[in-house]
Amino acid sequence: MPSYPIMTCFLLGGTLSSGQMAQAAEGAPQTLRDLGARANVVVGTAVDVDALAKDPAYAEIVASQFASLTPENAMKWAPIEHTKGQRDLHAATFVAQFARDHKQTLRGHALVWDLEIPSWVDTSAPAVLSREQFRHLTETVQAFQGQVATWDVVNEALDANGNRADNVLARALGPTYIEDAFRAARKADPKAILAYNDHGVLWPGPKADGLTRLVGGLKGGGVPIDAVGLQSHLHLVPDWRIDWAGVRAHLQHLASLGVAVHLTEVDVRTADLAGGSLGRQLAQAQAFYAMSRICRDLPACTHLTFWGFTDRYSWVDRTLGPDDPLLWDDQLQPKQGLFAVQDGLSGKPWSGCSTNWAANGDLEGGVGAFVTPGGRLVRSREAAAKGEYGLRSTDRTETWQGPRLDVSQLLAEGVDWRIQADARTTSGQILRMTLRVEDARGETYESLLAVSGNGAWQHLDTTFRPDFSGPVRRIDWYIEGPEAGHNIDIDNVSIGIVCPTF
Ligand code: G3I
Repeated sequence: MPSYPIMTCFLLGGTLSSGQMAQAAEGAPQTLRDLGARANVVVGTAVDVDALAKDPAYAEIVASQFASLTPENAMKWAPIEHTKGQRDLHAATFVAQFARDHKQTLRGHALVWDLEIPSWVDTSAPAVLSREQFRHLTETVQAFQGQVATWDVVNEALDANGNRADNVLARALGPTYIEDAFRAARKADPKAILAYNDHGVLWPGPKADGLTRLVGGLKGGGVPIDAVGLQSHLHLVPDWRIDWAGVRAHLQHLASLGVAVHLTEVDVRTADLAGGSLGRQLAQAQAFYAMSRICRDLPACTHLTFWGFTDRYSWVDRTLGPDDPLLWDDQLQPKQGLFAVQDGLSGKPWSGCSTNWAANGDLEGGVGAFVTPGGRLVRSREAAAKGEYGLRSTDRTETWQGPRLDVSQLLAEGVDWRIQADARTTSGQILRMTLRVEDARGETYESLLAVSGNGAWQHLDTTFRPDFSGPVRRIDWYIEGPEAGHNIDIDNVSIGIVCPTF
């Protein structure tokens, strides 16, 4: 069981909220394997064989956190039979042994995939490709009979419109090659769960509709398909928002066709979100939470497999460029996404939705990270709206002076933020909530909210969807407005997330 050292919780930019710190202090949370077992979900990860063999810290998390392992590449045709007539099962066997040693199940990926045909196969000769493909399928399934619980029999055979792709396999093996592959796999291992796996089919759309047609047709034709794998490679862009209710309905409809639903290859790319690292993690965590919760809630969703679990080893960096798409960071420390998956599998609301990410926003723990570009800040009972203490900005000489927080680590695109504060100033003076952003556009000011002061406490409450121009160098949140000589009192500052219905 990996230790969960209490992370250094620095204010605002911290990667753990105070609640998460408290949880970590209570001892390591339950493993994803245990949480999944309670939810009847087999939680798995793709594994990098080299890392599994050479990185003990990586192997420790694989061993303790997951119930199922998927060799990321070692069971594909080209890696197995890179050289004609020489089948190399060493890497796959190593993973199978590791899984056996840790009482984990094995997912075989992927028997039939047009992108992993060995280069020596003459794909221009249909009879050759057909003979070699079905020989490979049968030999591989038989080699791991009783070890592999689930096979991705056919991978990515639909085109973007949801039709059967006109690929080299379809042209060489004929229009029923998908059916033929499932029948051959069933013959080779009558007990394995046989799945069709594809990407871009998690939410409603033409390809998802095509998947539904394919699965319905296979089931209707008596083809031995037991499950459908929905690859969940998410790429977050600033205005990303997924209709999770539509995802739920789509998964439910697939289940109604008589197959198990597997969320496979889950990872969430955030490199195209500008702003703070914590905010990007929170955008990512929302997606991880939604997929985990939806799978937990749907009885037919029996498997949730991450496409790796740590940013230290991800196909995304190798293939698409630097990114941090997974649950543990490069140093194998937990990220917000891991806590979100724990909440999702537990059937709890995501804690990120109820957390005040502005540490010490109620001023009860001291002045904290609040500063002022001029005048003085005085924490006092007199300036409290609630609780013991509030914060007074006094001796102001400019309208733009006032209590300020550096939110550079926090605010990021991909999240709808809700920012609140109690504020008070002289009647007739302006109270304004402002963001100052330094990014590729230079220095810009965003007025989030302005009210006319009335000498009493006023609750400022607004939402904000960032639209930065990365890279973002700095973001400051502050209250300004009154003329020189007028104080600003603030209390109960809160920066939260506007959560969708998951
Ligand atoms: O290990 C060799 C290395 O020795 C060699 O020098 C290098 C240069 O070619 O290649 C290395 O192998 C690469 C392998 O990943 C390990 O990094 C292969 O070229 C490369 O093609 C392979 O890419 C894999 C890709 O599928 C294609 O099979 C990715 O790791 C893997 O994450 C990715 O996973 C796929 C799923 O199987 C199907 N769904 C989509 C998903 C992402 O593309």
